[in-house]
Amino acid sequence: MNDASPQTIYLKDYTPPAYLVETVELTFRLAPAATRVVSRISFRPNPDATTKDFVLHGSDMSLLWAKIDGAEITPSISATGLTCEVPNAPFIWEAEVEIAPDANTALEGLYMSNGMYCTQCEAEGFRRITYYPDRPDVMAVFTVRIESDLPVLLSNGNPTGSGEGWAEWHDPWPKPAYLFALVAGDLIAHTGSFTTQSGRDVALNIWVREDDIGKCAFGMDALKKSMRWDEEVYGREYDLDIFNIVAVDDFNAGAMENKGLNIFNSSAVLASPETATDSDFERIEAIIAHEYFHNWTGNRITCRDWFQLCLKEGLTVFRDQQFTGDMRGHAVKRIVDAIDLRAFQFPEDNGTLSHPVRPESFVEINNFYTATVYEKGAEVIGMLKRLVGDAAYQSALDLYFDRHDGEAATIEDWLAVFEDSTGRDLAQFKRWYQQAGTPRITVTDSFVDGTYTLHLAQETPSTPGQSVKHPFVIPVAVGLLGQNGQEVVPTTVLELTQAEQSFHFEGLSGRPLPSILRGFSAPVILKQSQTGAEQAFLLAHDTDPFNAWEAGQNLARAGLTAMILDDAKPDRAFLDALRLAIADEEKDPAYRAMLLALPSQENLAQALFDAGHTPDPDRIYASHKALREAIANHCQAILSRLYDEHQLTGPFSPDASAAGKRALTNAALRYLSLSDGPSRAQAQFDTADNMTQQLAALSALLSIDAGRDALSAFEAHWSKDRLVMNKWFALQVASAEPENAVAVTEALTQHPAFNWKNPNRFRSVVGALPRNQAGFHRADGAGYRLLADWLIRLDAMNPMVAARMTTAFQTMSRWDAGRQAHMRDALRQIATAPGLSRDTAEMVDRLLG
Ligand code: ARG
Ligand code: ZN
Repeated sequence: MNDASPQTIYLKDYTPPAYLVETVELTFRLAPAATRVVSRISFRPNPDATTKDFVLHGSDMSLLWAKIDGAEITPSISATGLTCEVPNAPFIWEAEVEIAPDANTALEGLYMSNGMYCTQCEAEGFRRITYYPDRPDVMAVFTVRIESDLPVLLSNGNPTGSGEGWAEWHDPWPKPAYLFALVAGDLIAHTGSFTTQSGRDVALNIWVREDDIGKCAFGMDALKKSMRWDEEVYGREYDLDIFNIVAVDDFNAGAMENKGLNIFNSSAVLASPETATDSDFERIEAIIAHEYFHNWTGNRITCRDWFQLCLKEGLTVFRDQQFTGDMRGHAVKRIVDAIDLRAFQFPEDNGTLSHPVRPESFVEINNFYTATVYEKGAEVIGMLKRLVGDAAYQSALDLYFDRHDGEAATIEDWLAVFEDSTGRDLAQFKRWYQQAGTPRITVTDSFVDGTYTLHLAQETPSTPGQSVKHPFVIPVAVGLLGQNGQEVVPTTVLELTQAEQSFHFEGLSGRPLPSILRGFSAPVILKQSQTGAEQAFLLAHDTDPFNAWEAGQNLARAGLTAMILDDAKPDRAFLDALRLAIADEEKDPAYRAMLLALPSQENLAQALFDAGHTPDPDRIYASHKALREAIANHCQAILSRLYDEHQLTGPFSPDASAAGKRALTNAALRYLSLSDGPSRAQAQFDTADNMTQQLAALSALLSIDAGRDALSAFEAHWSKDRLVMNKWFALQVASAEPENAVAVTEALTQHPAFNWKNPNRFRSVVGALPRNQAGFHRADGAGYRLLADWLIRLDAMNPMVAARMTTAFQTMSRWDAGRQAHMRDALRQIATAPGLSRDTAEMVDRLLG
């Protein structure tokens, strides 16, 4: 145990822990530069172990003393842990270590944020707090004593005592160390309460700094809704007397599901109408639900090892998506999830970072908290549900909770539950967990004598380390439409299991128009040749709202492709179809707002690359802009009517219906600013009483280069609100012209309020650049160099965030030789930076291929 150099860890090498832990008692004497942690841990040999070596993880701490069964010992210590001789029987380990939370800039383990102490232990942060078997299959009952002069002292479980300068907590539910949490600070609580279905009262608290107390009501409401929903839909009740949420300003991720003490990035919980947009409200509701749902899918049933991360994350994302659909409408939610999957997971799955939903090896597990593990992991569960049906899904989940409660489980356990409860063989389905890459499904069809035949062929491109791909089981939801748009065959789920397969529909009176992959029934790329007329027909008539939207996107994409490649004019058929669709008062406003959003520039680059072209980001940018102008002019009258007719009066409400109207008027406003100039947007900016409308107006002004004054007014008004200022920074980078984006980003890094050590602020400036596609991919490589310089600097402070941001380079192979060479240079520059972290080194290594 004296090797600190990076090692690859393999799923196939899993061995059970040599020692199990019964109970853990921890005492914290908090001090910024020298916190003392005393531990008392009862170990016993694991009867299933294959070794007797006693190894505890630990780093960035000094050991003051250690005892086994009361006798002082001298372990052998390395940079990553310690070993020593132990009895071949149950024994008590005691130790005291010293750590320095104020020097912890990685924000893993125990660290400080604005004078408060907090922790982040997933995945392997607990080993920076004390020596411990820091692996998720070691589950133990924790008792914690905190000593500090700070007024609020929190840990997991239920409070068991407190006094002047101390507090004690006991968590009766055995848990892995990654779910440990501690918070100490000068905080106040927004309180609430919840009565569970069996009648137990639970105290609810959202702990914040005094300034933020007005931003908690929405989160509290979302928490109660989540608790109720999990009871009603999954039969899962909360299991402690208290549930605490804490908002933290410096946080690497979105939030963390520590047992009974969820810790949130303040951006993922704090919201008021004045400071948060409708998308913030929706995101906050979803993240609160997500972390709460982890109590059963993650905490009560946890993961055997980190390769099984999707067991908790895929399932919990799937559950939070169901929840949001129930709260806000399933049609729009499915579209939003598909857009996100295509924007974040598809590029990952089709680039050098491609990996299976359950990876088979890693160097640094923090690098695998990815869209593939989370979002594709959720898609895999959605497919499983579609294949077995809703009732069978519910019985399987009941069996899962019954069988594995209190355990650290695997994907094999998860699939066995479905096999045992449904009798279905899931051997082929398991490939979704093992094979990386996005399957392509090519569609051909024929119609003979009243029989319509769909022929589906699947193919998955090779990915790093996986050159051969075997066919997946793919649920393809299909409906058939007749001449007048009536549904001649309602939605049917075809099971595509072979490389090629035909499906027949008999007894039809005429050739139908197929609507394929309804509801985005599988995370695949569909290749079908549709005419513009067919796409326009589906946009107008498809009874499946997802595919109607999809048809509009396909029509837009086809037109844009012709503009990009062949200098075509904006497609008149698309403009007419869009105008018709948005005027349809049967369609709800949120849905019409989705129709008005064009495929993103990133989406176009990916589609062009897929079709064998080398995308040119500048041409994509210019065509996108030209089509938006054409829409603005073509639809001016209806857009102006929609803008006026969907204005809301009365006090702001973040509910889905009001948010949908704002989404529609704001989408219209953006176009109307192009056709009619800045006056509407300026008026909306001046009178807005909520952030949704203020920010949309500012964004519309910036998009026509009329936002200078509004930008300063916004800054002057909001300079003290960190979360709002993040928007101010990010919006400027996002709306910069391609040739200015690097300079704008650079200038903002000189702004006095730019604090690169705060992850949210860093992400809203430097992290915003890659999302400005044409700006980041400037042909001279200046965007790549700027990002590389900053990532090298950040890596020395915060490896997790730096490593994550290298994903901006994952689409390297998509671009022309000149850009590829610049990207490669930037990556090499990062790779050779002195003292590079293991996190970033692994990423750059994979990116360079
Ligand atoms: N489990 C947390 C969640 O999904 C995220 C933890 C992120 N940790 C990390 N090392 N990236 O809610
Ligand atoms: Zn999660």
